[in-house]
Amino acid sequence: MKKILVTLMILLSTACSPIATNQTFNLSINSPDNHSTVVLVQQNNGETSYHVTRDEKTVVDASQLGFTFKNMPPLDKFDIVKTQQKFTKTEWTSPWGQNKHHQDEHNELLVELKEKDGDRLVNLRLRVFNDGIGFRYEFPLQNNITDVVIMDEKTTFVLPEDNDTWWIEADYDSYEKPYQHTPLSQVKHANTPLTMVAKNGLHISLHEAALTDYASMTLVSTGPNSLKAKLVPWQDGSKVKATLPLNTPWRTIQISPDAAGLANSDLILNLNEPNKLADTSWVKPMTYMGVWWEIHLGVGTWTTGERHAATTERAMKYIDFAADNNVGGVLFEGWNKGWGEWGKREAYVVPADDFDLQKVADYARQKGVNIIGHNETEGRIEAYESHVEEIFNIYSDLGINTVKTGYVAEKGFINGEHHQGQYGVRHYRKIVELAAQHKIMINAHEPIKDTGIRRTWPNMMTREGARGGEWNAWSEGNSAEYLLILPFTRLLGGPMDYTPGIFDIDYSHFAGKRYNWHGEPQTGDYRVHTTLARQLADMVILYSPLQMASDVVENYEGHPAFQFIRDLNVDFDSSFVVEAKIAEYITVVREADDVWFIASATNNTARTLNLALDFLPENSDFIAQIYRDADDAHFQTNPEAYQIETRVVTRKDTLTMALAAGGGQAIRIIKK
Ligand code: NOJ
Ligand code: CA
Repeated sequence: MKKILVTLMILLSTACSPIATNQTFNLSINSPDNHSTVVLVQQNNGETSYHVTRDEKTVVDASQLGFTFKNMPPLDKFDIVKTQQKFTKTEWTSPWGQNKHHQDEHNELLVELKEKDGDRLVNLRLRVFNDGIGFRYEFPLQNNITDVVIMDEKTTFVLPEDNDTWWIEADYDSYEKPYQHTPLSQVKHANTPLTMVAKNGLHISLHEAALTDYASMTLVSTGPNSLKAKLVPWQDGSKVKATLPLNTPWRTIQISPDAAGLANSDLILNLNEPNKLADTSWVKPMTYMGVWWEIHLGVGTWTTGERHAATTERAMKYIDFAADNNVGGVLFEGWNKGWGEWGKREAYVVPADDFDLQKVADYARQKGVNIIGHNETEGRIEAYESHVEEIFNIYSDLGINTVKTGYVAEKGFINGEHHQGQYGVRHYRKIVELAAQHKIMINAHEPIKDTGIRRTWPNMMTREGARGGEWNAWSEGNSAEYLLILPFTRLLGGPMDYTPGIFDIDYSHFAGKRYNWHGEPQTGDYRVHTTLARQLADMVILYSPLQMASDVVENYEGHPAFQFIRDLNVDFDSSFVVEAKIAEYITVVREADDVWFIASATNNTARTLNLALDFLPENSDFIAQIYRDADDAHFQTNPEAYQIETRVVTRKDTLTMALAAGGGQAIRIIKK
């Protein structure tokens, strides 16, 4: 067992002892590899702060802890009652994901605190891993207090200097703001994950894990390089309404010497509760496609009429293509009545007149294709909750095992509550739990932010929760650089349904056939801002267990590059980022059943990356199927120029990958 260092400047003979009150203390605990240290410091007046170092350099300077409540004094000055420490090294497996095997190795310090000059109790549980730290507050059952209303959490993150920072503006309802790259001092109010690079090169990301029946944490500037938790409110201004006992989510600080290490961190999942589903045989990652992109392009519509996309006929065509091309699922948006008549039962339950749900479901089953049902709620939570069991029952009867939910309501739910508040947290969880009872997998759009609950509820497959591919259809869209910020920010929380895989980069196949949301010809000069090979690479880099090949079926028919998608697995045994620089480039290697999927990507600068194949087993020859940018490819001027090459390789080889501006490379390696 690695050494745990717990130093007490006051009397503390064993690791589990009562401690005299009214004394300053200084407790420290190290990561198992002894690189990171967290020190708890208490002033004479009882104010308690934490301080994080790595290799003796400050990562987070002395930062405050505590709460304010409704109808109760603040709780931010403490005496220590007792401490306990423990070292844990366990292994656990997940039924699907980027990695099946996980190692949870950490030192834990549990500090039982009592209000100074009072009776209220709160515990601070701190875990220090090699890849960062997590801590949470635990309010135990205690005399005279059954309920609390938290008005503010005082948790602060004081950084020692003006770190280079990637962040999105805090919004209690939309997680689709553009990423900003600024000095930390320019962050006013941000969503998490917020990711920084310190002057000494250390990569640090602030987020939370296991957000359960609590409000999401945003970060607000409270002084130079100081960020404080700001919890998303209920309409009445309170933040969290709870009956004790209450555990807060974990406040997380992922720490890595480099960008690759940040992306490879398992900290968020390690801080979530184990799987609650006894049977996960029905939870199955898959690729999928659907009528979705034609609607966003404005070729089709959600509503019935001449351009209605989800017709029975079109559904059959997609099912045929999926069945013939090893695509697992097909999503039908606009399958239902009620678009534009929100709140009625029709909007959640009743198929449109030109969409024969029974026939489509029967056909899909016969062809071995999964249907992904679609429930757009428009933020009408009460209406959705009152119909969701009915729709899940209908879907279960039809054999539909996956549902994409949607919560388009940029200014908040229709009842005035926020997506990211405790109300929203409860709603999204309720849907995941109900879906589990019906053996339904969930893909949520406009979701609650991802804090790793897929470990506990493995049917919570993927979610949007950042600017997705749809923005390319009707706005200035997403840059190649933005796509290289996601793996080090949003994706640290978990999988994203970004919806990559567009082959018709400038939509030329649909010229003159596109309309905007007012039914007028689409005149915006919109397009995808990467090369085609990069679209394939993003299907590997932007991990989603439900990974959409998003383009319209006609753009895939007969296209040689579709072979990569046909072969693509989205349920990996292991994955790792080989090298990366935030917003500039990345190389990812994923493996399942002795087949490797590798992808590299660059921003708008063309570059060449090398990849040593030393992760391949010894004494075998392999075939590398390489989908790369053509020599003259460029995301703006020649985006669809690509080449497919096949090479015999061994673990002694190094691949040289030439990436075009805005480009990428996708590779599949199989045994020869
Ligand atoms: C926004 C979602 O992100 C998108 O995928 C969906 O098509 C529309 N809402 C309609 O539900
Ligand atoms: Ca969206």
